[in-house]
Amino acid sequence: MNEQQIVEQTITYFKEQFSGESTGHDWHHLRRVWSLAKSIAEAEGNMDLFVVEMGALLHDISDHKFNGGDETLGGKEAEKFLRQFDIAEDRIFKIVQIVQEISFKGMSVRTPMSSPEGAVVQDADRLDAIGAIGIARTFAYGGAKGRPIYDPLIKPVCHTSFAAYKTSSAPTLNHFYEKLLHLKDRLNTATAHKEAIRRQDFMEDFLKQFYRDWDAQIED
Ligand code: ADP
Ligand code: NI
Repeated sequence: MNEQQIVEQTITYFKEQFSGESTGHDWHHLRRVWSLAKSIAEAEGNMDLFVVEMGALLHDISDHKFNGGDETLGGKEAEKFLRQFDIAEDRIFKIVQIVQEISFKGMSVRTPMSSPEGAVVQDADRLDAIGAIGIARTFAYGGAKGRPIYDPLIKPVCHTSFAAYKTSSAPTLNHFYEKLLHLKDRLNTATAHKEAIRRQDFMEDFLKQFYRDWDAQIED
């Protein structure tokens, strides 16, 4: 099987496994990350596109948010999936490493990527977490996890450990301050940063409008 056939087979698998998922981690999230990652990689140049594509398609294969909190399962599942094909060891290693390293782990926790391919996939995943799509995904996730939309009495927290970040049950609006608004300045590539500026403006406008409507009164 050549590289293109492996990518096609992977797409077929994830389309089926992740279609209809309702927390914002559905097939279309994977498709957007894959497509964004390819275009960032092409703009940045000089990297292994097959690793970028496979890293993007596999990055949420077993996310700790949905598998009972196990951060090691993603890498293991990715490796198992990749071993059904004839792929060189160094490429398997790089793709698995992307899956292991990609996730956001709290505002004060650094999440460096070990390869340029990983840096691109992480940027694509983070672009899909902000802007209009990011807002939609965030409220879908909050609803699925039973979180309130907003509670002015519960203030956002700067998480200093992954353990504290992943066990938080704060209202969904806090997630903007605990993660989303910080992503623009934590991107790895200039290409993604440029795209993030437009998405950031939209999120900031959304928040302004949200608070305005929260306390709105109609006066005659
Ligand atoms: P990461 O692994 O970096 O968290 P994902 O692709 O798994 O990236 O998706 C993260 C998305 O899931 C967030 O951008 C957001 O939409 C949603 N999400 C995760 N945690 C929360 C939360 N505590 N509240 C609301 N949405 C969340
Ligand atoms: Ni993702």
